[in-house]
Amino acid sequence: MWFSGIGIPISILGLVSQVPLQNQNPPEPTPASMVSTVDFSFKEGPDVFSPKDLVTLARPGTGVANSAGDLLIVPVSKYSLDDKKNHKSIFIAPIESTVQPLEIPLANGGDAFWLDYRTVAHAVDEGEGKDKVKTLYALSIKYETESSTTTLSTLDTSALIGKFPTASVGNFKFNSKSDYLVFSDNVFPDGDINAVKKHDEEWENRGDNAYVYDDTFERQWDTWVGPKRSSLFTVTLAKGPGGKWILGNEFVNPLNGTGHHTPVEPFGGTDDFDVSASHIAYTTKDPKLPPAWHTKQGVYIVDLEGKTKPKELTSGKQGATHGPVFSQKGDKVAWVELDEDGYESDRGKVVIYDLNKDVRFTLTQKWDRSAAELAFSPDDKVLYLTAGDIARIKVFALPVPPTPKSSTTHPDLSDEYSTPHALTSNGAAAAIQPLANGRLLFTSSSFTSPNDVFVIRGLSEDLDSVAVKKTKVEQLTKFTADALSSKSLSLGEDFWFDGAEKKIQGWILKPPGFKEGAKKKYPIVLLIHGGPQGAWEDQWSTRWNPNIFAQQGYFTVAINPTGSTTFGQELTDAIQKDWGGKPFVDMLNGWKYILDKYPEVDPDRAVAAGASWGGYAINWIQGHPEYGFGFKALFCHDGVFDAKYNGYSTDELFFFNHEWGGRPWDKEAQAVLEKYNPANFVSNWSTPQLIVHGSKDYRLPETDGIGAFHALQQLGVPTRLVIFPDENHWVLNHGNSLKWNFEVFRWFDKFVGGDK
Ligand SMILES: *[C@@H]1O[C@H](CO)[C@@H](O)[C@H](O)[C@H]1NC(C)=O
Ligand SMILES: *[C@@H]1O[C@H](CO)[C@@H](O)[C@H](O)[C@H]1NC(C)=O
Repeated sequence: MWFSGIGIPISILGLVSQVPLQNQNPPEPTPASMVSTVDFSFKEGPDVFSPKDLVTLARPGTGVANSAGDLLIVPVSKYSLDDKKNHKSIFIAPIESTVQPLEIPLANGGDAFWLDYRTVAHAVDEGEGKDKVKTLYALSIKYETESSTTTLSTLDTSALIGKFPTASVGNFKFNSKSDYLVFSDNVFPDGDINAVKKHDEEWENRGDNAYVYDDTFERQWDTWVGPKRSSLFTVTLAKGPGGKWILGNEFVNPLNGTGHHTPVEPFGGTDDFDVSASHIAYTTKDPKLPPAWHTKQGVYIVDLEGKTKPKELTSGKQGATHGPVFSQKGDKVAWVELDEDGYESDRGKVVIYDLNKDVRFTLTQKWDRSAAELAFSPDDKVLYLTAGDIARIKVFALPVPPTPKSSTTHPDLSDEYSTPHALTSNGAAAAIQPLANGRLLFTSSSFTSPNDVFVIRGLSEDLDSVAVKKTKVEQLTKFTADALSSKSLSLGEDFWFDGAEKKIQGWILKPPGFKEGAKKKYPIVLLIHGGPQGAWEDQWSTRWNPNIFAQQGYFTVAINPTGSTTFGQELTDAIQKDWGGKPFVDMLNGWKYILDKYPEVDPDRAVAAGASWGGYAINWIQGHPEYGFGFKALFCHDGVFDAKYNGYSTDELFFFNHEWGGRPWDKEAQAVLEKYNPANFVSNWSTPQLIVHGSKDYRLPETDGIGAFHALQQLGVPTRLVIFPDENHWVLNHGNSLKWNFEVFRWFDKFVGGDK
């Protein structure tokens, strides 16, 4: 996917072989860019949630409970405009009491994970330059009730557990039942983590800085692929005499010599593998297929000591697979499986492999949603999962059916066993963790809040009542509630209208203080998401946050047209070979619906913005004035200009091949390109456009932004080009994020401002 909008990735690329802009003598700045920091300012104030607030608001990660299910840890980072630094902490919060969470600042950052129910491991870089390695410490937590007061504190000092051979280790997963720590690192072809530093030095001193390729991926997402690839490692981690935690010094690479690489680049992490008392289950790209034009991934298990070869659990006929998890007993593995190789947005079905019976079966064949994360209940009777559903990401429960006699993709399952039941209704849930006593921990964000941790109580493992049980959702943390309390963010209102072929949903976020009945008062913005297989969801975003647009005074409309996810596979699939077709009928119908329904909106002060596929949409709208949207200014971020050339230049070639119906030279794709390539309609372009592109965007190379800029400049259309030399398909750096917002709102204000 070409991720843009909210949390989801999108797929396109950039040219790094070009001399990066920052290494050249910078051209003389034009007068426009010299005054760019003084000719506009954000709406700000105690009751406004401004881009500065977005950049400096705490960014909580996801909550993880300890084995006792009474405490959780959450990493939180917070950027400061004063020292221009990102400050990291972990918070320890109780699940069963009202004691205030405990903040443990991490001066040098690092990762934290549970060792036992009162000990947190902290992995942090130590040493400089070549001597830098990751070091592991144990941090003891005191959580006690004496008479009527409960206290939560930590011992001041943390105890050294051990050192890793490199600083680049990460993705730690510890199963105390096995006394093995599993983690990942990038290693050279010899698979030896102890040799990484030596080889790094040889590589750096090779006398040139060329990269040489005989196969794809030569580069992916934002990185030129070097000689190292990801692998998993295991090492013993257990309490020694005297109760002291000790990290072993034998680092085993159980994937050595298999051609398997996990976590899968570029987004893979701890979701790509799981650890039982004796084994690792993992997903990896098929080592025999060229990665750039295949999505196929297999699921394997291998023993923790790497004594036996990995065993494949998938059938070999699947497309991508994601998120393998063990049952609590370790006798089953479940994962999400897509049917079609080459299509990353195919429906994600739940598959279980029964390791005792050697039987694999698909559960959600009848369910028209894509599962994301999976987790078995404490007694393995229920599978919990998250899935996108009508522009939310909900938690669902599905009873685990008895294993069939033989492997099958279409087992005969009653609805009870094939249709998950929703346990939440709003927000975007992640990091589900079933706990004892009918509880399930999860982390959720929404349009109005970044992540907080929640617990569902009252879950039943009694199969008959999964659907009807009276569960209760309780919020455990409030990381940003105080900071946001005076800001009156919009919850987002759903609206539905008739699209090209189906009912289409969109969101409205009204500006604060919106007055019903006021005539033509508000400027309006249409936000177009990326993907195109993605969605505007009830979810927090630090990049494209619809409330930021609303808070700057725009009546904000975010439509989920054809191609969007969470509304069923047919709507998602229907954009294939139709990029410039149905989605624009949908968006135009939605646009008319809004303008008819809201006289408060000024149609003469309308603008539109999109990234990635949303940027394609902006360039497409430029070429089609007959739509009559009436936009006075447009904003295209990392968008497609020449779709045909993208078919050659993007990193993930499977994406183009699927979307356009073939490779760029195939007849069918050529015909679709002829119809729907924005570059074919440049002669119609006339609307002022801001173009922003990241030079490390290898998904959709910066030349697409530059090409559109050159076209508009020659046509004499007001244009501004903003290049971020260090950003990929997303603008992530805090300072750059603020600059992004500044340029966007400055641009719109120039053409539709006036309410000042
Ligand atoms: C990996 O396997 C190769 C043989 O395929 C062997 O030479 C090498 O020592 C192994 N490395 C590790 C770290 O086990
Ligand atoms: C847009 O451009 C195309 C190709 O140059 C042209 O055929 C078409 O008539 C134009 N449409 C409008 C509305 O100007």
